Amino acid sequence: MSRIYEALQRADLERKAAHENEVEQDAEPVVVHNIEPPLPVKSNVVLESIAEHQWNPSMDSFPTLADRGAGVEQFRGLRSRMFQLRYESPLKTILVSSGLPAEGKTFVTANLAMSLARNNVNNILVIDADLRRPTLHTLLGAPGSPGLSEYLAGTAELNDILQRNRGPKTVDASSGHNVSNLMFIPAGKCSDNSSELLANHRIEKMIATLSPHFDWILIDSPPVLAVTDAVDIATAADGILLVARGGSTPFNVAQRTQAAFRNSRILGFVLNDVKDASRRGSYAYYYGGPEASDGASQRKDKRS
Ligand SMILES: Nc1ncnc2c1ncn2[C@@H]1O[C@H](COP(=O)(O)OP(=O)(O)OP(=O)(O)O)[C@@H](O)[C@H]1O
Ligand SMILES: [Mg+2]
Repeated sequence: MSRIYEALQRADLERKAAHENEVEQDAEPVVVHNIEPPLPVKSNVVLESIAEHQWNPSMDSFPTLADRGAGVEQFRGLRSRMFQLRYESPLKTILVSSGLPAEGKTFVTANLAMSLARNNVNNILVIDADLRRPTLHTLLGAPGSPGLSEYLAGTAELNDILQRNRGPKTVDASSGHNVSNLMFIPAGKCSDNSSELLANHRIEKMIATLSPHFDWILIDSPPVLAVTDAVDIATAADGILLVARGGSTPFNVAQRTQAAFRNSRILGFVLNDVKDASRRGSYAYYYGGPEASDGASQRKDKRS
């Protein structure tokens, strides 16, 4: 009798426990956790609140900071050409690329950006997308991080990576102009997975978000025949400006570079650093359509 009673009591307790469990489960709201963590990056940009740093550009690398001279004139010519091309079809975001290292991509990007900023009341943005060997911040004398790497990795927001020069001290020593309309996104900390970061199309979304705030956006990039990063970035650009170095870039390298961007709008070649100082001054920049990559026949010297 007592054993049956005990069994019944046990069964009753188990039933109650099971019921309580059910009630508890019913009462508990079902939480479905988001498998994809939300992006930590806000997409809004407030230009008024971006960080200001005292830039200290190296004057050797910025002939466009001078009042006059061959460098100023030639970059003016290149700038005019960009405006002409914009009349032909919409053009705002320009990727500057070349086949090999040390052909002058960073030099051309930085000086064209400076030339545009000095000419323009609107905002100009220059981005260092060479995540492997970034140097644009060195030319500007600006902090190199946080930057694009951190944004693409999701650890920084757009407003954290944008910077401008702090006034009232002047960047443009000759004219007293602070070029406060020039903004800069450095490359950030170099990482091993820069290819993956650039291939995930996040840069396209970034440019789309930034675009309404700027009149021109210039992007520096690594050499395309060494790594394919620039081809990935090209999807975010309206046009590609190619650089070849006078007396250094072989013709077949220029051809292969052009071929690497066959799916993009190639704006032309800048033939950089042509040494003919007696007639043209220390710097010489030429440009022409992509068909002009065979050199002198179709290239134009803007000072002639
Ligand atoms: N027209 C020029 N006149 C004088 N020096 C130049 C000129 N163009 C580039 N240089 C110098 O040549 C060197 C290489 O230029 P730059 O860094 O712009 O090349 P790059 O193509 O960006 O190289 P990388 O592929 O390694 O990033 C730099 O020291 C730069 O100052
Ligand atoms: Mg460079």
